[in-house]
Formats: sequence, C-alpha cells, structure tokens
Amino acid sequence: MNPVYEKLMKCYESVRAKTGFVPKAALILGSGLGNYGERIRVETIVDYHEIAGFPVSTVPGHAGRFLFGYVGETPVVCMQGRVHYYEGYDMADVVLPVRLMKRMGAEILFLTNAAGGIRQGMHAGDLMLITGQIASFVPSPLRGPNIDELGVRFPDMSQIYDKDLQRTARAAALKTGVDLYEGTYLQLPGPQFETPQEITMCRTLGADAVGMSTACEAVAAKHMGMKVMGISCISNMASGISPVPLTHEEVQETADRTAPRFEALVTEILTNIGG
Ligand code: HPA
Repeated sequence: MNPVYEKLMKCYESVRAKTGFVPKAALILGSGLGNYGERIRVETIVDYHEIAGFPVSTVPGHAGRFLFGYVGETPVVCMQGRVHYYEGYDMADVVLPVRLMKRMGAEILFLTNAAGGIRQGMHAGDLMLITGQIASFVPSPLRGPNIDELGVRFPDMSQIYDKDLQRTARAAALKTGVDLYEGTYLQLPGPQFETPQEITMCRTLGADAVGMSTACEAVAAKHMGMKVMGISCISNMASGISPVPLTHEEVQETADRTAPRFEALVTEILTNIGG
C-alpha cells in the first residue's frame, strides 16, 4: 500500500477508536479563531497526540486537537491548530489532517488563516473571502505516486473555491454586517515574512493577500472532491505597505481584535450549510 495512504488509514482507525462522529464540514482555525471552540457545542475532543503518526504543530498558540460537535445543527470537525510547511513537515503530512477529515465524512472544507494584505484599500482587521489561489511557490501535496483511493492523477483546479459556498459566505456577511473583501490568496513557504520586492512580485501576479498555509490544503481537498471555501483575516498590511516591521505579535493582536466579527461570520456560514 502507498505509505502516505497507509499512514492516513492508521490515523483514521486511531480516531475511530475514540469517536464515531461523522462531520459534514471540516473547519481549520487560523490565527484569530483560536477560541472558536467556545462557539461549538462540543461532543468529543481528540488531541493530536492521541492519534498515532499524526503531525503535531510546533507554533506557539497553536493548540493541537480536533473538536467534534455542532454549530447550529451542522455537524462539524474543527482543527484547533494546523501544521505548516515551514515547520519542516513534508507536504503529505501538512495535508494529512485534511485528508483525515474527509475520511471521517466531511464534504466541505472551510479554511481560515491570517494573511498579509496586498490589495490597495485593505486594512489590518479586514476579512477576505478567498475566491482563487496561487500555490505554485510551494511543493504540491499531490507529488509522488497518485493515491487513487483519494482522487485522480491530474485533478482539475479551474474552480477550487466552491461558488455556492461563496454565495453562502456573501449572504452571511450581509446578515452579520461584516464587510467582506474578495480576492486571490498566494501561499509562500515562509517562515520569514516577505521582502517588499517579493510583495511587489505577488501583487504583479494578481495576489490580494499572502500567507504561509491554506493553498496546499485546498489542493489536497479539491483532489478528493471536497467543496472548499476560505476566509483570510488580514492581520497586517504586507511588507513594504505596512510602515512598521512585521511581527508575529502584530499578526496575533490584530487577529484577536478581529475575532468577534470573524467568529460571527463563520458561525452564520456553518449554520447555513447544514441542510
Ligand atoms: N505574510 C505572510 N504570512 C502572513 C502575513 C504576511 O504578511 N501575515 C500573516 N501571515
């Protein structure tokens, strides 16, 4: 058996030994949604440490566990803490949690992150619905022998972010009174923040926001036929646009400040995708 698939199945058995919960949506919490667990009617918690072979994050502030429960009537699995490529993991490990959540039953992947804003007019604290992405600067999570059990060798990526889910997000933004930008997210490997010259490159390529996660997860999810959506918290304006040097503390501070609006929006969206 393909070793990546074998590991996935081992993780799946490990989770299933603890819970039979079948989620409809999988939610990955980025910076700023760290406390979102409080909005979920949690039924079961599984620590990543309890799952044999599961990659565990090293980033401060990224607790590592799956929450299983309900938002409204929608059954969700929520990742409190993700692993990033810059931590040193292979891409196959970075996307293993996404594959695992699909295996558990999730048809929808809801990605969130903190990102640097590139588009003119954006401000730190804005939220951006991801409508497209550029993943070309990080290795593909699909590199290596194709795992036929998950998807095809050459999956289509012409529409990664699901149009219906985008409509749901826009309606939810209207209802919760949240201004929602829309745009293209570009993933860089990190962990260093960009130079102003790299941000000029990103803008030239059509990116509206830049970050160090998400796009690879979206590729793996699309490969498996999941419906994908994503929202970025613009935690800072990108290098060269922001007048001050970038720090993780600024990212965290803005993300925390944005949390109430972000949480309200995510809750409204999740409640409305249950049917
Ligand atoms: N660049 C890359 N990743 C980020 C940024 C940024 O400015 N802000 C939050 N994550």
